[in-house]
Amino acid sequence: MSKLDIQRDVPLAPLTTLGLGGAAKFFIRVEDEPGLLGSLNWASDQGVRTAVLGGGSNLIVPDAGYDGLVIQMGIAALDLYEDGRARVGAGVPWETVVDAAVSRGWAGVECLTGIPGSTGATPIQNVGAYGQEIAEVIDCVHVVRRDSLQSEVLAAAECGFSYRDSLFRRRPERFIVTAVELVLRPGGRATIRYAELEQHLGHGASLDQVRDAVLDLRRRKSMVIDPSDPNRRSAGSFFLNPIVDSAEADRLAEKAAKDGIVDSPSEVPRYPADGDRTKLAAGWLIEKSGIAKGTRRGPIGVSTKHALALVHHGGGTASELLAFAAEIQRRVHDRFGVTLEREPRLLE
Ligand code: EPU
Repeated sequence: MSKLDIQRDVPLAPLTTLGLGGAAKFFIRVEDEPGLLGSLNWASDQGVRTAVLGGGSNLIVPDAGYDGLVIQMGIAALDLYEDGRARVGAGVPWETVVDAAVSRGWAGVECLTGIPGSTGATPIQNVGAYGQEIAEVIDCVHVVRRDSLQSEVLAAAECGFSYRDSLFRRRPERFIVTAVELVLRPGGRATIRYAELEQHLGHGASLDQVRDAVLDLRRRKSMVIDPSDPNRRSAGSFFLNPIVDSAEADRLAEKAAKDGIVDSPSEVPRYPADGDRTKLAAGWLIEKSGIAKGTRRGPIGVSTKHALALVHHGGGTASELLAFAAEIQRRVHDRFGVTLEREPRLLE
């Protein structure tokens, strides 16, 4: 195997969309599975811990950086088969997959456009937007087990997918994703499930039209990375939408009406979730706890377009970001009794 190109003291901020945080003590970019295994073996010989970096769009790097080996995932093979199947290396930018699918007329990911980051990250948080989630089109996930360094293939049913969650997110110490196999639908119909999309498009819209409409909606919410957008430095949604018992959601809505936050309980955005549960809108809870869009704490702020995204305006620190996040959590908890859970991963 070729010599490993391990670098020292590599700043991580430029490799993340938030542009915050310190350096990696050791760093390598791997292009294939042997490179990944070699890096893991090197780290184990040196007694240093490892973390995998994808597109850096869902990651908070602490100011102290990472005292171990950061492995940047560059496995970039993309194989498309005639029947709508695709095998995608973990390092392929996710938008490349959406491009390939939509341009071939393959349905299944047209709503998942404009999402930054690499394909290997998509099963981890079960990426979802505008009525689709990646779990719906995943056939299986190729991984390397961290304990044995063996390759394995997990069928979708073994990945424990749920809202923005998976086995990979719950047990990050177990697996490294190396490739994802998707089953898309050649000639299939576009998904138009999300209310905002339905308002924009009639049923029967093409994959291209749906993709363009999603991109347009995301741009309006500053959820597409655009170098000229003042809200561009973010990690997308910073908190999960809380899923609570429906009885609790009803109580919250009634209390919000009683406290004069809304005129009627029906104004509180609520969406049915699995079981007798209800998904609340974290962005709404944040705004109604008194944190308006555009609120700033020095270099850190809430996006001017969407209260769920925290934005770094430059010159800030990860500690300032986390302090503002904690303030938001406290305020939402004080007003609504709901605890917001952070969505991006903290590299620690
Ligand atoms: N809302 C507000 N204020 C805000 C934002 C939202 O009141 O500032 C309320 C509105 O009532 C709206 C509701 O929240 O009806 C839902 O808002 P939106 O449709 O913008 O979606 P979201 O629930 O805030 C989720 C995902 C996004 C995804 C969109 C579209 C999570 C944590 N976030 O946001 O994903 O793009 O739906 O499907 O589930 C991401 O995870 O990084 C991400 C961008």
